[in-house]
Amino acid sequence: MPSVEFSNITKKYGTVTVIEGLNLTVADGEFLVLLGPSGCGKTTLLNMLAGLQDITAGTIRIDGNDVTDLDPKDRGLAMVFQSYALYPTKTVRGNLKFGLAAQKLNRAEIERRVAWAADLLQITALMDRKPAQLSGGQRQRVAIGRALVKNVGVFLFDEPLSNLDAKLRTEMRMEIKRLHEEVKSTIVYVTHDQIEAMTMATKIAVMDGGVIQQYGTPDEIYEHPSNRFVAGFIGAPAMNFLDGTTTTTAGGDGTVTAKLADDRTIDLSGYPFEKPPEPGRAITLGLRPEHFELPEANGQALFRLPVRSTERTGSDATIYLGIGDDLIAVRADPAFARNVKVGEEVPVSFPSGKANVFDARSGQRM
Ligand SMILES: Nc1ncnc2c1ncn2[C@@H]1O[C@H](COP(=O)(O)OP(=O)(O)O)[C@@H](O)[C@H]1O
Ligand SMILES: [Mg+2]
Repeated sequence: MPSVEFSNITKKYGTVTVIEGLNLTVADGEFLVLLGPSGCGKTTLLNMLAGLQDITAGTIRIDGNDVTDLDPKDRGLAMVFQSYALYPTKTVRGNLKFGLAAQKLNRAEIERRVAWAADLLQITALMDRKPAQLSGGQRQRVAIGRALVKNVGVFLFDEPLSNLDAKLRTEMRMEIKRLHEEVKSTIVYVTHDQIEAMTMATKIAVMDGGVIQQYGTPDEIYEHPSNRFVAGFIGAPAMNFLDGTTTTTAGGDGTVTAKLADDRTIDLSGYPFEKPPEPGRAITLGLRPEHFELPEANGQALFRLPVRSTERTGSDATIYLGIGDDLIAVRADPAFARNVKVGEEVPVSFPSGKANVFDARSGQRM
């Protein structure tokens, strides 16, 4: 399957630069998710790859070949849009076949591909219906089928699940992942939804402001965010951020601690600093809700903090604790969260090796 390579891509709309000097390589067979907030340039990048939008500067290669100036239909890719863009007057079969209109194929081959895609997407029973007679999820399957029949090496998806309800989104996530495993094509998938990225991607490129902030596997990005933006964007409830300054304990053994705004200190001796920071450096501590520990009432605890509110979702619970003027989200056992009272102080610890430390000024991981 083909690889995709963006080299030094710049895109301007008039005088506004939305992407500048972007480099990204998608290996063959990869499921790359471009993840970022609305307006960060995801669709622009995808449309440039598809040939639907021109490029101000830079080169795009597919399978090693420069396609920068090629017509969309000559690039060997198929795209699935957020608005399914089905033909309302055509049946499901007609919509699937229409995807092949530009390719000169004999009737038997067209029938074979349509039947194959319909079977893969489990829409064979719907072939004679019109889009208006389908549910949202079924329409989305037809839109995917129309791309699948083209039998290309690269599939592009632009937020294809945004219009579906939560349950269908979960189903379609599994479906698209299964399709990728079966068809083994290269996929570039755009979304603002971190759950889609975490569950489907083999690699994620996190974007903000037209810039790729981090590229890596879902685990690398979750466990080792390279800056504060990525750290805050991935994870629900979001990572807690606390401002502090570094201090070094007397005696000169080099142990680093973080002094928080309310004069509490957190030991960072277990944190793998790339380079030990000098004392007095302004930092932002990033602490994931699930890494806090809530020891027994008399156990060793770092802090005792007041409960401000609790949130239970059945299988899971989050309690919000006050620390100075801030709130921190702490993942808790639902049974614990049920019994705890607002205003009550609970003991809480944090294993320092699980902390993330960012430079307060640059936001970069330290
Ligand atoms: N045709 C256009 N003309 C001018 N600005 C545009 C146009 N299309 C997109 N933009 C701007 O480019 C930026 C990136 O847009 P887009 O790629 O659609 O973001 P995303 O898909 O990540 O939400 C946004 O600031 C958007 O307002
Ligand atoms: Mg978009």
